[in-house]
Amino acid sequence: MKNSAKLWDGRFTEATDALVEAFTESVSFDRRLYRHDIAGSIAHATMLASVGVLTTGERDAIVRGLEAIRTDIDAGRFEWSTSLEDVHMNIESVLTQRIGEAGKKLHTGRSRNDQVATDVRLLVRAEIDEVVAAVRALQRSIVDLADREHDTIMPGFTHLQTAQPVTFGHHLLAWYEMLERDAERFVDARKRVNRMPLGSAALAGTSFPIDRDMTARLLGFDTVSANSIDSVSDRDFLIEFAAAASLAMVHLSRMSEELVLWSSAQFEFVDIGDAFCTGSSIMPQKKNPDIAELVRGKSARVIGNLSALLVLMKGQPLAYNRDNQEDKEPLFDIVDTLKSSLLVYARMLPATRVRRDRMREAARRGYATATDLADYLVRRAVPFRDAHAVVGRAVRHAIESERDLSELSLDELRTFSAAIDEDVFEVLTLEGSVASRAHRGGTAPERVREAVRAAREHLDQVAPPGPDQPTGGAH
Ligand code: ARG
Repeated sequence: MKNSAKLWDGRFTEATDALVEAFTESVSFDRRLYRHDIAGSIAHATMLASVGVLTTGERDAIVRGLEAIRTDIDAGRFEWSTSLEDVHMNIESVLTQRIGEAGKKLHTGRSRNDQVATDVRLLVRAEIDEVVAAVRALQRSIVDLADREHDTIMPGFTHLQTAQPVTFGHHLLAWYEMLERDAERFVDARKRVNRMPLGSAALAGTSFPIDRDMTARLLGFDTVSANSIDSVSDRDFLIEFAAAASLAMVHLSRMSEELVLWSSAQFEFVDIGDAFCTGSSIMPQKKNPDIAELVRGKSARVIGNLSALLVLMKGQPLAYNRDNQEDKEPLFDIVDTLKSSLLVYARMLPATRVRRDRMREAARRGYATATDLADYLVRRAVPFRDAHAVVGRAVRHAIESERDLSELSLDELRTFSAAIDEDVFEVLTLEGSVASRAHRGGTAPERVREAVRAAREHLDQVAPPGPDQPTGGAH
């Protein structure tokens, strides 16, 4: 028995197998596109009327009908049907049930192939704007913290071994820069997302006198796509978004790893607010940095989704193939994972207490000013390699007597090099060390302040704080 509700079964004599129906349907997840699908259909119908393919009466019936459907879906009153396969045919078929003949004309001059490509682009465009706003909010909370901690001294690490003293504000602004490039990447990807495929129809275009520029204008696209075969087929715009999302998650995972280390009893550099941690069901003393761990873990899903999208596209012949239906779930998962990770991070950071005493102590214990002593000797005409060896011996001596370099006496220091004088203690202090790195991009507190100011100016320019946008609490 045929199921005559289907929109494409004219040439079919048998009903679809139930298992096939369940296997091929996408409405269970692509209904998430409904707002964009309806916006696309309204623009399409408006254009069709303006070129004379629809009457204005038909157009008005379609537009009103689609708006009513949107209201119903918004309110959860719309009945989705799996036998109607996807979001596009569910909406079109209910439209026709409601408004009659005019509804059957909506699909004139288009195909689900250009329709779905348009819907996905509209969704990605909207989501990019939300993602960028979330990145900006997180950047603001980082800048607020960097401002407060501009002269807090901590050990800087290479190989996770104490390397040189840095200011915590400077370290935080490294996070800011990572996210700044992420925002740039999203904004750049958006340019290639915002091109309209509608009008490409199934793949070859349409014989109707459509005005693609008009539809593009109505939908806010920058331009129309140049080739109908390409534009129903490629999902590279989506892959670019997924790649930018993966990098952002990789950045968040690195920040997370630092927070996990820093909040441990071995470091005790930070104390993450109770509201952002959980306990252990067996070990009463535990307070776990779950947010950081989960974000680190969730980066794996986003990277996995990127790889799914790449493999999905690989080897597909032109033009549209049903494979592309598989792009939706990875896309939605990326969007949800990325946005929630950014939002929770922007809230967690202001609730994180910084243990300045612990950071300072760790920098002191780690012989972090050894390079400063070597540089001091170089300024006194000792070749750098010789200076390096001299300081190495001095550090070994300090380790043996369990003291910091600044705790050695001048006489002791002079046994390693006669070039050392009283003023050496200025460079052996942690403050002297960070203050001396005062070039552009350096860790000196005055430079951190300057970088904080520049970052705030930049953020105010690209994302002026609105009434409900988090600005952090520091100023
Ligand atoms: N659900 C499909 C997708 O997501 C819509 C396009 C299907 N086109 C077709 N001719 N079967 O890609």
